Amino acid sequence: MSTATDTRPGTPTGASSAETLLTVKDLQRHFPFREVQGLKMVSATVRAVDGISFEVRQGQTLGLVGESGCGKSTTSRLITRLDEPTGGSITFEGRDITHLKESQLRGIRRDVQMIFQDPYSSLNPRQTVGAILTTPLRVHGLHKGKERQRVQELLELVGLNPEHINRYPSEFSGGQRQRIGIARALAVEPKLIIADEPVSALDVSIQAQVMNLLAKLRDELDLAFIFVAHDLGIVRHFCDQVAVMYLGKIVEYGDKKKIYEAPEHPYTQALLSAAPDINVARGVAPKERIRLVGDVPSPIDPPSGCRFRTRCWKAQEICAQQEPPLVAAESDVATRRRREGGLHLQACHFPEAKTDLVAEVPAEA
Ligand SMILES: Nc1ncnc2c1ncn2[C@@H]1O[C@H](COP(=O)(O)OP(=O)(O)OP(=O)(O)O)[C@@H](O)[C@H]1O
Ligand code: SF4
Ligand SMILES: [Mg+2]
Repeated sequence: MSTATDTRPGTPTGASSAETLLTVKDLQRHFPFREVQGLKMVSATVRAVDGISFEVRQGQTLGLVGESGCGKSTTSRLITRLDEPTGGSITFEGRDITHLKESQLRGIRRDVQMIFQDPYSSLNPRQTVGAILTTPLRVHGLHKGKERQRVQELLELVGLNPEHINRYPSEFSGGQRQRIGIARALAVEPKLIIADEPVSALDVSIQAQVMNLLAKLRDELDLAFIFVAHDLGIVRHFCDQVAVMYLGKIVEYGDKKKIYEAPEHPYTQALLSAAPDINVARGVAPKERIRLVGDVPSPIDPPSGCRFRTRCWKAQEICAQQEPPLVAAESDVATRRRREGGLHLQACHFPEAKTDLVAEVPAEA
């Protein structure tokens, strides 16, 4: 991607990979609402995001994973400041952006871009792909007088034919439309891309192609990513770190290797065991399966103590009484894994590493 017009400090080519780009601290989004109960009108609160903290460094990819309704999209909207937090803070490149007014958000609107889940509804059907991709260039005053050339460059970058600049979204397939969505996010040369389930609306055969494209672009452009997914399987090869969310909280967070090879929280273990297992297809013995029972409780009235306790097979009395804090993983504290370094936090009163959930495929298999 051309950065000819970009003189901002910390652009992909300039900054060290260890530089912290985004810091999210105790972030909350509570939605107040009123509903009729019997003959009374009562006030209630949806605790969509309820005190989460994480960091993303320059060029790093964080996977944000959890079941439907756990608060992933709300978190994404808060970071992009499409919504305003009710608590906590968001710092981008050392600047507190938590409560900036719209007029102060211009830089963030460029630096942080989103790729949406649904490539059908996220593109204006009445605009050509050329118009869709030119709009962000105009808004941010980029590539003045050379917008058409830049749009064609972007189309080429995402694997589309630059001659299709005058076509409408309806003339493209689902995978191609998602490529347009990716091109639109890249148009303004962002530093962080939040991809909210960018492949889940696509055919399985197309998902891998789009994932490969995202990985290629990320590496070539040294972009930081937050990749939102339901499934730990899909982020495994894409992310450096993973945060597992349950009912508005992060229950396990750390370097990919630690989360996949020795998850300690029962919920992470259940998600991992549900992830598609390529080993079975290759004749390797199936890994252990943990079947999650029951539905996710309502974020209006989450369970006391540990929010996962109503579905947890290990729950004990203390789990209803005390909320487990997010602390250093047990195996890191107890064994040499701590000396290996890296991040691994978990929030369970009875953490226990499970190392048999993801079997590596032997080289000869
Ligand atoms: N504007 C709103 N008003 C009230 N409740 C909301 C609002 N937006 C989201 N919620 C609720 O907050 C919770 C988290 O929603 P969110 O969309 O962030 O979940 P998600 O993890 O992205 O789910 P999915 O995987 O289905 O996309 C849900 O219970 C949702 O109903
Ligand atoms: S704290 Fe208790 S209920 Fe929660 S995950 Fe751990 S064992 Fe299960
Ligand atoms: Mg969502």
